[in-house]
Amino acid sequence: MGGSVSHCVGVSSDLQEKGPGILFRVIKEGTIYHALMIRINQQAKAYLNVCAHAALRLNGDRNTFFSRDGNYLYCHAHGATYEPETGLCIRGPCEGLSLIPLTSSERDGRLYLEDETYQYYE
Ligand code: FES
Repeated sequence: MGGSVSHCVGVSSDLQEKGPGILFRVIKEGTIYHALMIRINQQAKAYLNVCAHAALRLNGDRNTFFSRDGNYLYCHAHGATYEPETGLCIRGPCEGLSLIPLTSSERDGRLYLEDETYQYYE
């Protein structure tokens, strides 16, 4: 294996502030996980799309992650509410736990997953 861990997951203009997320998948040690990227405070942030409560996807069938007021990431299963900047659950059944962050970057109008542990999965 080895080589570059940088993988383009989308273009910057597709990711609006507090808008729908970009969905992709990653793999770690043979296990595939759903992942998401959102934009908050002009910054792209990526997390595993795995709720800290019961490991369900936050978005269900949709690609929206933000609460109605736009201030939090919200799990549609049982209502866990996360800070988008940190991934910390501040309300709901997994309060005090966090989403697993993924290292990402944005350059030249493109969004990249650059995580050493979770590799992009086609
Ligand atoms: S799985 Fe997200 S709140 Fe239960």
